[in-house]
Amino acid sequence: MKGLILSGGKGTRLRPITHTGAKQLVPLANKPIIFYVIEDLVAAGIDEIGIVVGDTGEQIRQAVGDGSRWGVRFTFVEQSRPGGLAHAVKESRPFLGDDRFILCLADNVTQGGVNDLVREFRDGTMNCSIVLTEVKDPSAFGVAVLEGDRVVRLVEKPRESISNLALVGIYLFDGTVWPAIEALKPSFRGELEITDAIQYLVQHGHDVRPHIHRGWWLDTGKKDDVIEANRILLDLIDPKIEGDIDDASSITGRVAIGAGARIIRSVIRGPAAIGERAHIENAYIGPFSSVSEDCQIVNAEIEHSIVMRGSRIVGIEGRIESSLIGRNAEIAVAPSLPQAHRFTLGDHSRVELRG
Ligand code: TTP
Repeated sequence: MKGLILSGGKGTRLRPITHTGAKQLVPLANKPIIFYVIEDLVAAGIDEIGIVVGDTGEQIRQAVGDGSRWGVRFTFVEQSRPGGLAHAVKESRPFLGDDRFILCLADNVTQGGVNDLVREFRDGTMNCSIVLTEVKDPSAFGVAVLEGDRVVRLVEKPRESISNLALVGIYLFDGTVWPAIEALKPSFRGELEITDAIQYLVQHGHDVRPHIHRGWWLDTGKKDDVIEANRILLDLIDPKIEGDIDDASSITGRVAIGAGARIIRSVIRGPAAIGERAHIENAYIGPFSSVSEDCQIVNAEIEHSIVMRGSRIVGIEGRIESSLIGRNAEIAVAPSLPQAHRFTLGDHSRVELRG
């Protein structure tokens, strides 16, 4: 069985981070999101993995390499345009052939990985298996209607309460998916939808089974979802201290500190992750914070946030929280009069100042 990870797309909901970087490389507990997805597939014994990329393909290739780090082989598929999940699958046909495959989104992580699911599909005779999870507000999701252990209908963002089982972005298919994909027409948003392909399978009498997922499911499409995913994954990190910590600093809870990091007169309260060569001085790093490599946090307080590679936060009064700060960004005190707020912000940036 092969694996296909979708890592193209537009990433509009995560601007401005996605103006310059792939959202699938945003670090959660200091590890790029897509690494969690790759590791789940590898743990399930999938060793031929296709990665669909778009505009940010070069960054993705650089970050993940050729797969040898995980003992598997990657094949990169360049999607001609972000034409939808089923469009990405369609353009991956040369890689997939007629093999059975598991399709995953590179910006979604689920608790417990995909082992059971892959085993069930390998051993079973079904044509398609979709992962579903119970949600409180189904109107925001694609949902599946079941009869016994069969999927009988899929509905996008239902207005009436017909099901509270939302589609998590993990699907398994056999070769019956290809006629379904060939028959697709663009949806109202101009994309080829994978839900329409599954609906086609159901309508043509193929065996589509649900797999109910219990536990967390992290969809990191938007900033608050990214911060929440970081919170959950930080709780699972292996504590380790590889950097230097002076005697005036205190480290409590589950904390990982990378090699070459320096912690001076600071308080770090886990769960938290500090990347390699980070410089933390006279600072408070509170729970659920990830500070990536080569960052500087000096005379500042931060909590429940992600600071990406090479950023500086220096001399800030008042705690920074629930923030996602991109690479090589700088938050500093204005050096001279007049005392004023000064910004150099990229397109679609957002700043919330204390009232
Ligand atoms: P989405 O988050 O649904 O779409 P998007 O990345 O375009 O983001 P936004 O809605 O904020 O504009 O995509 C889920 C995953 O699938 C994500 O990792 C990107 C990937 N993807 C593709 O590889 N090709 C595509 O054509 C699309 C739409 C998404």
